[in-house]
Amino acid sequence: MRAAIWTAYGPPDVLEIRDAAKPTPRADELLVKVEAANVFPGDCELRRFDIHPFFWLPLRIMSGIRKPRRMRILGQEFAGTVEAVGSRVTHHRVGDRVFAPTALGGAYAEYVCIGERLATPIPPNTSFEAASCVAVGGLNALHFLRVGQVGPGKKVLLYGAGGSIGTMAVQLASLMGAEVTAVDRGDKLATLRKLGAHRVIDYQREDFTASGERFHAIVDLPGKSPYRRTIGMLAPGGRYVLGNASAFAMLRSLGRSRVKVALTGYRPADLRYLRDCLASNDIRAVIDRCFALDDIVQAHRYVESGQKVGNVVLIIGSAAA
Ligand SMILES: NC(=O)c1ccc[n+]([C@@H]2O[C@H](COP(=O)([O-])OP(=O)(O)OC[C@H]3O[C@@H](n4cnc5c(N)ncnc54)[C@H](OP(=O)(O)O)[C@@H]3O)[C@@H](O)[C@H]2O)c1
Repeated sequence: MRAAIWTAYGPPDVLEIRDAAKPTPRADELLVKVEAANVFPGDCELRRFDIHPFFWLPLRIMSGIRKPRRMRILGQEFAGTVEAVGSRVTHHRVGDRVFAPTALGGAYAEYVCIGERLATPIPPNTSFEAASCVAVGGLNALHFLRVGQVGPGKKVLLYGAGGSIGTMAVQLASLMGAEVTAVDRGDKLATLRKLGAHRVIDYQREDFTASGERFHAIVDLPGKSPYRRTIGMLAPGGRYVLGNASAFAMLRSLGRSRVKVALTGYRPADLRYLRDCLASNDIRAVIDRCFALDDIVQAHRYVESGQKVGNVVLIIGSAAA
Protein backbone atom coordinates (compact mmCIF):
# COMPACT_ATOMS: atom_id res chain seq x y z
CA MET A 1 0.00 0.00 0.00
CA ARG A 2 1.03 3.65 -0.40
CA ALA A 3 1.62 5.70 2.72
CA ALA A 4 3.24 8.91 3.92
CA ILE A 5 6.24 7.58 5.81
CA TRP A 6 7.62 9.58 8.75
CA THR A 7 11.35 9.26 8.08
CA ALA A 8 12.83 11.57 10.75
CA TYR A 9 11.91 14.15 13.41
CA GLY A 10 11.84 17.49 11.66
CA PRO A 11 10.19 19.77 9.08
CA PRO A 12 7.33 18.69 6.76
CA ASP A 13 9.65 17.25 4.10
CA VAL A 14 10.63 14.36 6.40
CA LEU A 15 7.32 12.87 5.21
CA GLU A 16 7.83 10.75 2.08
CA ILE A 17 5.34 8.79 -0.01
CA ARG A 18 6.55 5.18 -0.15
CA ASP A 19 5.24 1.63 -0.36
CA ALA A 20 4.53 0.02 2.99
CA ALA A 21 3.24 -3.37 4.11
CA LYS A 22 -0.56 -3.58 4.21
CA PRO A 23 -1.51 -4.20 7.87
CA THR A 24 -3.33 -7.34 9.02
CA PRO A 25 -6.22 -6.96 11.50
CA ARG A 26 -6.09 -8.74 14.85
CA ALA A 27 -9.14 -10.71 16.01
CA ASP A 28 -10.88 -7.63 17.44
CA GLU A 29 -9.86 -5.25 14.65
CA LEU A 30 -11.14 -4.04 11.30
CA LEU A 31 -9.00 -3.47 8.23
CA VAL A 32 -10.23 -0.20 6.75
CA LYS A 33 -9.53 1.20 3.28
CA VAL A 34 -8.86 4.84 4.11
CA GLU A 35 -10.64 7.42 1.97
CA ALA A 36 -9.77 10.59 3.88
CA ALA A 37 -7.65 11.52 6.89
CA ASN A 38 -7.51 14.71 8.95
CA VAL A 39 -4.16 16.52 9.06
CA PHE A 40 -4.38 17.34 12.72
CA PRO A 41 -2.13 20.05 14.22
CA GLY A 42 -1.06 17.39 16.74
CA ASP A 43 0.39 15.36 13.83
CA CYS A 44 2.68 18.30 13.05
CA GLU A 45 3.71 18.59 16.71
CA LEU A 46 4.54 14.88 16.74
CA ARG A 47 6.40 15.05 13.39
CA ARG A 48 8.77 17.76 14.64
CA PHE A 49 8.63 16.25 18.16
CA ASP A 50 7.47 19.44 19.76
CA ILE A 51 6.11 17.48 22.73
CA HIS A 52 5.15 18.51 26.26
CA PRO A 53 8.08 17.83 28.67
CA PHE A 54 5.93 15.44 30.78
CA PHE A 55 5.21 13.21 27.76
CA TRP A 56 8.46 13.70 25.81
CA LEU A 57 10.35 10.62 27.03
CA PRO A 58 7.51 8.06 27.01
CA LEU A 59 6.47 9.17 23.52
CA ARG A 60 10.05 9.16 22.27
CA ILE A 61 10.51 5.60 23.57
CA MET A 62 7.25 4.66 21.85
CA SER A 63 8.09 6.18 18.47
CA GLY A 64 11.88 5.68 18.35
CA ILE A 65 14.78 7.37 20.16
CA ARG A 66 16.93 8.66 17.25
CA LYS A 67 14.28 8.54 14.54
CA PRO A 68 10.73 7.23 14.16
CA ARG A 69 11.14 3.45 13.98
CA ARG A 70 8.25 1.76 15.78
CA MET A 71 5.77 4.34 14.53
CA ARG A 72 6.33 5.16 10.86
CA ILE A 73 2.98 6.58 9.76
CA LEU A 74 1.28 9.65 11.27
CA GLY A 75 -2.45 10.45 11.19
CA GLN A 76 -4.79 10.49 14.21
CA GLU A 77 -8.16 10.10 12.51
CA PHE A 78 -9.70 8.91 9.28
CA ALA A 79 -12.80 7.81 7.44
CA GLY A 80 -13.05 4.85 5.07
CA THR A 81 -14.66 1.52 4.16
CA VAL A 82 -14.25 -1.75 6.06
CA GLU A 83 -12.32 -4.18 3.85
CA ALA A 84 -11.91 -7.12 6.27
CA VAL A 85 -12.87 -7.98 9.84
CA GLY A 86 -11.07 -9.98 12.54
CA SER A 87 -12.54 -13.26 13.82
CA ARG A 88 -14.03 -11.73 17.01
CA VAL A 89 -15.57 -8.64 15.37
CA THR A 90 -19.34 -8.58 15.87
CA HIS A 91 -20.58 -5.05 15.17
CA HIS A 92 -19.13 -4.27 11.75
CA ARG A 93 -19.25 -5.84 8.31
CA VAL A 94 -17.19 -5.62 5.14
CA GLY A 95 -18.38 -2.59 3.16
CA ASP A 96 -19.42 -0.48 6.20
CA ARG A 97 -18.44 3.21 6.04
CA VAL A 98 -16.71 4.13 9.30
CA PHE A 99 -14.78 6.94 10.95
CA ALA A 100 -12.43 6.61 13.91
CA PRO A 101 -9.57 8.10 15.87
CA THR A 102 -6.36 6.05 15.81
CA ALA A 103 -4.24 5.74 18.96
CA LEU A 104 -1.62 8.24 17.70
CA GLY A 105 -0.89 7.47 14.07
CA GLY A 106 -1.44 5.26 11.06
CA ALA A 107 -4.11 7.16 9.11
CA TYR A 108 -1.89 8.66 6.34
CA ALA A 109 -2.04 5.37 4.43
CA GLU A 110 -4.27 3.46 2.05
CA TYR A 111 -5.15 0.96 4.80
CA VAL A 112 -5.27 1.04 8.57
CA CYS A 113 -6.34 -1.41 11.28
CA ILE A 114 -8.60 -0.16 14.06
CA GLY A 115 -10.22 -1.76 17.12
CA GLU A 116 -13.90 -2.28 16.45
CA ARG A 117 -14.94 -0.33 19.60
CA LEU A 118 -13.66 2.93 18.12
CA ALA A 119 -14.87 2.47 14.54
CA THR A 120 -18.18 4.31 14.22
CA PRO A 121 -20.64 4.16 11.30
CA ILE A 122 -20.71 7.27 9.10
CA PRO A 123 -24.27 8.59 8.75
CA PRO A 124 -25.65 8.57 5.17
CA ASN A 125 -25.72 12.40 5.01
CA THR A 126 -21.98 12.68 5.71
CA SER A 127 -19.08 12.46 3.23
CA PHE A 128 -15.80 10.68 3.95
CA GLU A 129 -14.01 14.07 4.02
CA ALA A 130 -16.37 15.47 6.64
CA ALA A 131 -16.37 12.27 8.72
CA SER A 132 -12.56 12.23 8.76
CA CYS A 133 -12.40 15.39 10.86
CA VAL A 134 -15.01 14.87 13.54
CA ALA A 135 -13.61 12.29 15.97
CA VAL A 136 -10.53 13.89 17.53
CA GLY A 137 -11.82 17.46 17.50
CA GLY A 138 -15.25 16.34 18.73
CA LEU A 139 -13.95 14.03 21.48
CA ASN A 140 -11.57 16.66 22.81
CA ALA A 141 -14.23 19.36 22.62
CA LEU A 142 -16.78 17.23 24.50
CA HIS A 143 -14.22 16.43 27.18
CA PHE A 144 -13.11 20.05 27.68
CA LEU A 145 -16.72 21.27 27.86
CA ARG A 146 -17.60 18.61 30.43
CA VAL A 147 -14.58 19.50 32.54
CA GLY A 148 -15.77 23.11 32.33
CA GLN A 149 -19.25 21.97 33.49
CA VAL A 150 -20.78 23.70 30.47
CA GLY A 151 -24.56 23.38 30.30
CA PRO A 152 -27.83 25.23 29.63
CA GLY A 153 -27.65 28.96 30.30
CA LYS A 154 -23.93 28.88 31.15
CA LYS A 155 -21.66 31.53 29.66
CA VAL A 156 -18.58 29.94 28.09
CA LEU A 157 -15.56 31.60 26.52
CA LEU A 158 -13.67 29.47 24.00
CA TYR A 159 -10.13 30.77 23.44
CA GLY A 160 -8.50 29.57 20.18
CA ALA A 161 -11.91 28.54 18.82
CA GLY A 162 -11.09 28.54 15.10
CA GLY A 163 -9.20 25.24 14.89
CA SER A 164 -9.98 21.53 14.78
CA ILE A 165 -11.15 21.28 18.39
CA GLY A 166 -12.57 24.80 18.69
CA THR A 167 -14.93 24.60 15.70
CA MET A 168 -16.45 21.48 17.29
CA ALA A 169 -16.49 23.05 20.76
CA VAL A 170 -18.46 26.09 19.53
CA GLN A 171 -21.15 23.83 18.04
CA LEU A 172 -21.29 21.36 20.93
CA ALA A 173 -21.42 24.10 23.58
CA SER A 174 -24.28 25.76 21.65
CA LEU A 175 -26.06 22.39 21.52
CA MET A 176 -25.65 22.10 25.29
CA GLY A 177 -27.56 25.38 25.58
CA ALA A 178 -24.57 27.54 26.54
CA GLU A 179 -23.96 31.12 25.42
CA VAL A 180 -20.67 31.05 23.53
CA THR A 181 -18.05 33.76 23.17
CA ALA A 182 -15.35 32.66 20.70
CA VAL A 183 -11.86 34.19 20.52
CA ASP A 184 -9.51 33.74 17.57
CA ARG A 185 -7.96 35.64 14.64
CA GLY A 186 -10.15 38.02 12.64
CA ASP A 187 -10.35 35.92 9.48
CA LYS A 188 -11.86 32.97 11.38
CA LEU A 189 -14.61 34.89 13.15
CA ALA A 190 -17.27 34.81 10.42
CA THR A 191 -17.12 30.98 10.45
CA LEU A 192 -17.37 30.93 14.24
CA ARG A 193 -20.49 33.09 14.13
CA LYS A 194 -22.08 30.75 11.58
CA LEU A 195 -21.31 27.81 13.86
CA GLY A 196 -23.33 29.41 16.66
CA ALA A 197 -21.05 31.75 18.61
CA HIS A 198 -23.08 34.57 20.21
CA ARG A 199 -20.06 36.86 20.34
CA VAL A 200 -16.68 36.74 18.60
CA ILE A 201 -13.44 38.52 19.54
CA ASP A 202 -10.34 39.05 17.40
CA TYR A 203 -7.47 38.45 19.83
CA GLN A 204 -5.11 40.48 17.67
CA ARG A 205 -7.29 43.62 17.88
CA GLU A 206 -9.10 43.40 21.18
CA ASP A 207 -8.11 42.54 24.75
CA PHE A 208 -10.77 39.97 25.60
CA THR A 209 -10.04 40.35 29.31
CA ALA A 210 -10.97 44.04 29.27
CA SER A 211 -14.74 43.62 28.80
CA GLY A 212 -15.55 43.13 32.47
CA GLU A 213 -17.75 40.16 31.52
CA ARG A 214 -17.79 37.05 33.73
CA PHE A 215 -17.92 33.44 32.45
CA HIS A 216 -18.93 30.14 34.02
CA ALA A 217 -16.30 28.36 31.94
CA ILE A 218 -13.25 29.58 30.06
CA VAL A 219 -11.71 26.91 27.83
CA ASP A 220 -8.28 27.90 26.55
CA LEU A 221 -7.48 25.40 23.80
CA PRO A 222 -3.90 26.42 22.82
CA GLY A 223 -2.98 27.37 26.41
CA LYS A 224 -2.02 30.93 25.50
CA SER A 225 -4.44 33.09 27.51
CA PRO A 226 -2.93 35.43 30.14
CA TYR A 227 -3.39 33.41 33.33
CA ARG A 228 -4.05 36.04 35.99
CA ARG A 229 -6.30 38.27 33.90
CA THR A 230 -8.22 35.29 32.50
CA ILE A 231 -8.87 33.69 35.88
CA GLY A 232 -10.21 37.06 37.01
CA MET A 233 -12.97 36.72 34.41
CA LEU A 234 -14.52 33.64 36.06
CA ALA A 235 -17.98 33.90 37.59
CA PRO A 236 -18.29 32.42 41.12
CA GLY A 237 -17.81 28.64 40.88
CA GLY A 238 -16.53 28.97 37.32
CA ARG A 239 -13.78 26.86 35.79
CA TYR A 240 -10.72 27.74 33.73
CA VAL A 241 -9.88 24.72 31.52
CA LEU A 242 -6.48 24.44 29.84
CA GLY A 243 -6.35 22.26 26.72
CA ASN A 244 -2.62 22.64 26.25
CA ALA A 245 -1.07 23.46 29.61
CA SER A 246 2.65 24.15 29.89
CA ALA A 247 4.57 22.26 32.58
CA PHE A 248 4.49 25.48 34.65
CA ALA A 249 0.72 25.86 34.18
CA MET A 250 0.22 22.22 35.19
CA LEU A 251 2.17 22.72 38.41
CA ARG A 252 0.38 26.01 39.09
CA SER A 253 -3.02 24.30 38.69
CA LEU A 254 -2.27 21.85 41.52
CA GLY A 255 -4.54 22.52 44.49
CA ARG A 256 -6.58 25.14 42.59
CA SER A 257 -10.07 23.77 42.09
CA ARG A 258 -10.99 26.48 39.56
CA VAL A 259 -8.14 25.60 37.17
CA LYS A 260 -8.40 22.31 35.30
CA VAL A 261 -5.84 20.68 33.03
CA ALA A 262 -7.87 18.53 30.66
CA LEU A 263 -6.36 15.37 29.17
CA THR A 264 -8.70 13.50 26.87
CA GLY A 265 -9.54 9.83 26.71
CA TYR A 266 -11.56 8.32 23.85
CA ARG A 267 -14.99 6.94 24.77
CA PRO A 268 -16.97 4.95 22.17
CA ALA A 269 -20.22 6.39 23.61
CA ASP A 270 -18.97 9.89 22.76
CA LEU A 271 -18.18 8.80 19.20
CA ARG A 272 -21.74 7.50 18.88
CA TYR A 273 -23.04 10.83 20.19
CA LEU A 274 -20.97 12.70 17.58
CA ARG A 275 -22.31 10.40 14.86
CA ASP A 276 -25.88 11.15 15.98
CA CYS A 277 -25.14 14.89 15.93
CA LEU A 278 -23.80 14.55 12.37
CA ALA A 279 -26.84 12.54 11.31
CA SER A 280 -29.23 15.18 12.67
CA ASN A 281 -27.14 18.03 11.16
CA ASP A 282 -26.59 19.43 14.67
CA ILE A 283 -22.85 19.59 14.02
CA ARG A 284 -20.81 19.81 10.85
CA ALA A 285 -17.14 19.47 10.04
CA VAL A 286 -15.42 22.69 8.99
CA ILE A 287 -13.03 21.89 6.14
CA ASP A 288 -10.65 24.62 5.03
CA ARG A 289 -8.78 22.75 2.31
CA CYS A 290 -8.17 19.25 0.92
CA PHE A 291 -4.82 17.87 -0.30
CA ALA A 292 -3.97 14.65 -2.14
CA LEU A 293 -1.87 12.08 -0.24
CA ASP A 294 1.00 12.90 -2.64
CA ASP A 295 0.88 16.50 -1.36
CA ILE A 296 1.36 15.57 2.30
CA VAL A 297 4.34 17.94 2.67
CA GLN A 298 2.30 20.92 1.42
CA ALA A 299 -0.60 19.86 3.67
CA HIS A 300 1.64 19.90 6.76
CA ARG A 301 3.13 23.25 5.73
CA TYR A 302 -0.35 24.71 5.34
CA VAL A 303 -1.48 23.45 8.76
CA GLU A 304 1.64 24.94 10.34
CA SER A 305 1.08 28.30 8.60
CA GLY A 306 -1.75 29.05 11.08
CA GLN A 307 -4.06 30.04 8.19
CA LYS A 308 -6.49 27.17 8.41
CA VAL A 309 -10.02 27.53 9.75
CA GLY A 310 -11.22 24.20 11.13
CA ASN A 311 -9.55 21.27 9.39
CA VAL A 312 -7.28 20.25 6.54
CA VAL A 313 -8.14 16.92 4.93
CA LEU A 314 -5.93 14.45 3.10
CA ILE A 315 -7.73 12.70 0.26
CA ILE A 316 -6.40 9.14 0.01
CA GLY A 317 -9.01 6.97 -1.72
CA SER A 318 -11.05 7.54 -4.87
CA ALA A 319 -14.41 7.54 -3.06
CA ALA A 320 -13.62 10.88 -1.37
CA ALA A 321 -13.90 13.98 -3.59
N1 LIG B 1 -5.36 18.05 26.32
C1 LIG B 1 -5.48 17.17 25.32
O1 LIG B 1 -5.75 15.98 25.53
C2 LIG B 1 -5.30 17.67 23.91
C3 LIG B 1 -5.59 16.82 22.85
C4 LIG B 1 -5.45 17.32 21.56
C5 LIG B 1 -5.01 18.63 21.37
N2 LIG B 1 -4.71 19.41 22.42
C6 LIG B 1 -4.24 20.81 22.29
O2 LIG B 1 -5.38 21.60 21.97
C7 LIG B 1 -4.95 22.75 21.26
C8 LIG B 1 -5.93 23.05 20.15
O3 LIG B 1 -5.86 22.01 19.18
P1 LIG B 1 -6.46 22.22 17.72
O4 LIG B 1 -6.23 20.93 17.02
O5 LIG B 1 -7.81 22.79 17.78
O6 LIG B 1 -5.42 23.30 17.16
P2 LIG B 1 -5.63 24.29 15.93
O7 LIG B 1 -6.48 23.67 14.92
O8 LIG B 1 -4.26 24.76 15.58
O9 LIG B 1 -6.43 25.50 16.62
C9 LIG B 1 -5.87 26.36 17.56
C10 LIG B 1 -6.49 27.75 17.32
O10 LIG B 1 -5.98 28.64 18.32
C11 LIG B 1 -5.66 29.86 17.68
N3 LIG B 1 -4.67 30.61 18.44
C12 LIG B 1 -3.33 30.51 18.41
N4 LIG B 1 -2.78 31.40 19.26
C13 LIG B 1 -3.81 32.06 19.84
C14 LIG B 1 -3.88 33.10 20.80
N5 LIG B 1 -2.79 33.63 21.37
N6 LIG B 1 -5.09 33.56 21.15
C15 LIG B 1 -6.23 33.03 20.61
N7 LIG B 1 -6.22 32.04 19.67
C16 LIG B 1 -5.01 31.56 19.31
C17 LIG B 1 -5.12 29.43 16.33
O11 LIG B 1 -5.18 30.52 15.42
P3 LIG B 1 -3.87 31.20 14.79
O12 LIG B 1 -2.69 30.33 15.08
O13 LIG B 1 -4.21 31.32 13.35
O14 LIG B 1 -3.79 32.52 15.44
C18 LIG B 1 -6.09 28.33 15.96
O15 LIG B 1 -7.25 28.83 15.32
C19 LIG B 1 -3.53 22.48 20.76
O16 LIG B 1 -2.65 23.33 21.46
C20 LIG B 1 -3.31 21.02 21.09
O17 LIG B 1 -1.96 20.77 21.48
C21 LIG B 1 -4.87 18.96 23.70
